[in-house]
Amino acid sequence: MTTKKRERDEDSDSDSESVVSALQLSHVPSVTKHRESESKRIWGFLEGRVREQAGGTLYVCGGPGTGKTLHVERARAAVEGMEISTVRGTSFANGEALMFAVARALAPPSSMEKIEWARLSAKECVAEFEAKVLRGAARQRGKRRNKVFGLVVDEIDSLVAVAGDATRRLFAVAARPENRFALVGIANAIDLPQRALGAKPSDTVVFEPYTFLQLRDIVADRAGDKFEAKALELAARKVAAQTGDARKVLDICAKAVRLASGDGIATIRHVVAALKDSAASPACATVQTLPVHARVALAAAIRLSGAKGHFSRKDLFHAYQQQCPGLKADMAADEALALLEATGLLEAVDARRRGSGRAATTTAVKRNRRNAPTAARALRLAVDPQDVQPALGNLPSA
Ligand SMILES: Nc1ncnc2c1ncn2[C@@H]1O[C@H](COP(=O)(O)OP(=O)(O)OP(=O)(O)O)[C@@H](O)[C@H]1O
Ligand SMILES: [Mg+2]
Repeated sequence: MTTKKRERDEDSDSDSESVVSALQLSHVPSVTKHRESESKRIWGFLEGRVREQAGGTLYVCGGPGTGKTLHVERARAAVEGMEISTVRGTSFANGEALMFAVARALAPPSSMEKIEWARLSAKECVAEFEAKVLRGAARQRGKRRNKVFGLVVDEIDSLVAVAGDATRRLFAVAARPENRFALVGIANAIDLPQRALGAKPSDTVVFEPYTFLQLRDIVADRAGDKFEAKALELAARKVAAQTGDARKVLDICAKAVRLASGDGIATIRHVVAALKDSAASPACATVQTLPVHARVALAAAIRLSGAKGHFSRKDLFHAYQQQCPGLKADMAADEALALLEATGLLEAVDARRRGSGRAATTTAVKRNRRNAPTAARALRLAVDPQDVQPALGNLPSA
């Protein structure tokens, strides 16, 4: 290879790397488009809380990758006169951990260290939160009369199974305007607060899936000149037809640019290859959406599923505890198993057919559930461990 050709290839490689990083999710574009009215409503809610010196609840929902987290963060940063903390529902294995983190984010340590959230009834918990956390924090800062506290709880749906009570309490506290506590919950399902938390938010902002034109524009703004027009159109059309998920189109386009490195701009051929690649493991995508306690349980199930293929619930509880001793095993483990079954990653094996290795049908599972104690039902993996392994990296050890 001539020196000139090598230099050209190196230039093209480093150029495509910089394009790939512009397409990566960690890259925060300085300006975003297509969510102006949603952003305005979120900002309006927060700004209204400051102006009225009152609390309230806002729910933000929509499918994955529709820009909820990004635009709530932007609105949060643009609001003045309110301290707003953010927590992610996937970080907590139980209600006590959630309440503790929220209290720590809002209040000075002295006002909440002695509160044992798990021991309090729902009513007491709300009273403690109001008296010690919110008022304690306001007093400490000497601004008792003009301070509103804001909290964003992202991925609130992951809390329903493991910290439903605590989440309900947070909504209850924020629903009283006199508490000056503004809560913004984010999740996918439109009716989650009403259905799972018995809460009625003051307002709900829905993020619709992005359209083909919007997805094309989002990628073009970051890396338009690295694509043949038809190739970019194909990626945007495919994703718009399936989910309207900006994360997905960015991922596919980053793959296509990588595949094209050395060849110049990304063409239809590169996009087709990237689409094929990203469709390879839907199970992996499912695992990525699971809360941490469910991923810990899945990793434990993979370890157990060695020679026999199936294992008992009891063994799985035990392995779960060993895998991650810092996470409380009781209720979180139960819910983790329910989630793994509901998402089809684990399946029940009918005890009578265990030898033949056939999984129970849903009806058989239900019948079996009625007749046999839960602990006696055997489980097995319903996915190939290799398919989901990439999504199990970096699990916390506590
Ligand atoms: N309007 C937009 N302009 C530019 N980039 C966007 C836009 N919307 C989303 N993105 C990109 O897509 C990524 C995913 O968006 P975001 O994290 O806000 O999705 P989400 O709705 O919170 O999804 P999930 O429900 O999975 O949490 C962002 O990190 C950002 O890079
Ligand atoms: Mg999000």
